Amino acid sequence: MPNKKNRFYATTPIFYVNDAPHIGHAYTEVAADVLTRWHHQRGEESFLLTGTDEHGEKILRTAAANNSTPQAWADQLVKSAWLPLLETININNQDFIRTTEPRHERNVQKFLQALYDKGFIYQGSYEGNYCVGCEEYKTDADVMPGEGEYAGQVVCAIHSKPIEKLSETNYFFKLSEFAKPLLDYYEAHPNFVQPESARNEVVAFVRRGLDDLSISRSKEKFDWGIDIPWDDSHITYVWFDALLNYITAIGYGEDEAKFKSIWPPKVQIVGKDILRFHAVIWPAMLMAAGLELPKQVFGHGWLLVGGEKMSKSKLTGIAPSQITDTFGSDAFRFYFMRAIAFGQDGSFSWEDLSARYESDLANGFGNLASRVIAMVNRYFEGSVPKHGHYTDADKKIQQVAAKAVADADAAIEKLAIHEAIAAIWVLVDELNGYITVQEPWALAKDEAKRDRLATVLYTCLEGLRVLAILLAPVMPKATNALWNAIAEINLGELEDQPISKAAVWGQLSHGAAVREIEALFPRIEQE
Ligand code: ME8
Ligand code: MG
Repeated sequence: MPNKKNRFYATTPIFYVNDAPHIGHAYTEVAADVLTRWHHQRGEESFLLTGTDEHGEKILRTAAANNSTPQAWADQLVKSAWLPLLETININNQDFIRTTEPRHERNVQKFLQALYDKGFIYQGSYEGNYCVGCEEYKTDADVMPGEGEYAGQVVCAIHSKPIEKLSETNYFFKLSEFAKPLLDYYEAHPNFVQPESARNEVVAFVRRGLDDLSISRSKEKFDWGIDIPWDDSHITYVWFDALLNYITAIGYGEDEAKFKSIWPPKVQIVGKDILRFHAVIWPAMLMAAGLELPKQVFGHGWLLVGGEKMSKSKLTGIAPSQITDTFGSDAFRFYFMRAIAFGQDGSFSWEDLSARYESDLANGFGNLASRVIAMVNRYFEGSVPKHGHYTDADKKIQQVAAKAVADADAAIEKLAIHEAIAAIWVLVDELNGYITVQEPWALAKDEAKRDRLATVLYTCLEGLRVLAILLAPVMPKATNALWNAIAEINLGELEDQPISKAAVWGQLSHGAAVREIEALFPRIEQE
């Protein structure tokens, strides 16, 4: 039985259901999924959580504007858009939490009550700015003068839409008391907030001191949220509610055994837009409750359109299916993980996507697989040939494979997904070069060189086996097709292949069947 040390719990943000997902949301999902699948292949018991954030004024208003109730609106969007997204980009999540589920609502109330009983919550009055788009209380530094249709008004610096003045009696969480404990924690755990730029921003923010946080809204204003347990004239502030999904989904408050076996997360992946919620408010909430903190919060960069963050509210979103319908889910996953340094911003372009598809997938990896399998079928009747003596060139492939495994694993350890893929591609390129030099088609013409031909093609097949294992977390479909063709019969399921043993040479047995395959990445006709 795997013990808790081998547990890999990863989370994505839970997304607002005010609209359908765009490729920014898909990007976060894919990154978390690649990491989780990798850790699964490391032999860890992995658990990926994602879900939807369904309360708050933003959802309420969107539903009203569409002549719907918030619950009906959320139900319809989850069913028609957010769950299908996971199929579209092939996410292997272990759970999906919706904040309107009873398992969430009743345990949010338990958490609130616990903090109230410990004296971390008090009643006070809030006066200030609120952005419904962000669902966030805004300081003067977060707002700016409006332009165009909003000239003369104060707008949110992120949404460019007018902020609202709030003046309410609310319940407050004593966030200010946690500035010092948080700073101490960041200091003692330098990897808690990553990447480094994100960590620096968060530390600087907390050093300026923290205000207490209003965690309730009066029902006189709106009532789409979870009741404050000791005062049902108030509902819970949507972020306080939403952050708790990471514990309510795994049994907090009602299944202690499950909760203990999964908590805390190894990594919480979020976009840098919501880093402060995850790196400041959330750990303070956990400290107040006496719960262990996540091992790491990673704030990735933004997908940009015209230099600005792609967003639902600015209508710059591209639907993931626009890409997958043409290129497939594997290419989607590969492209975003390979082309953008994880942690930094990146611009999406159709030209760049097409170019990488063509060079890396169709010509690089796909063609390598096709050629090798076709030659094994042509020259060895579709069975794994028996290798002879290994030359230096063959041994070089074995060494490059071993290095690809080690480098990729080390890159994943620091969440440099782009570097991991680059490290694996060294083997793709090396194998293509090897085939060019060894010229198996020429060896095949000379019966005296049949032993050498067998060794060359065996080396290629073993190289493909290693690639299938290493690329499975990124491109599950293509690698499974490849695996079925070359290895499944004697080696079992692809996702059960341990990364650590991937480069142990000679796992394919002589005589095992090698089946023909369709092109893994067919060429795409230009429109
Ligand atoms: O903030 N580039 O939900 P949300 C990269 N419900 N990632 C992007 C992106 C872009 N242009 N746009 C969105 C919320 N994302 C809250 C979260 S968690 C307890 C509650 C991704 O629907 C990225 O992960 O606005 C970002 O942090 C998230 O979507 C925001 O999604
Ligand atoms: Mg947002």
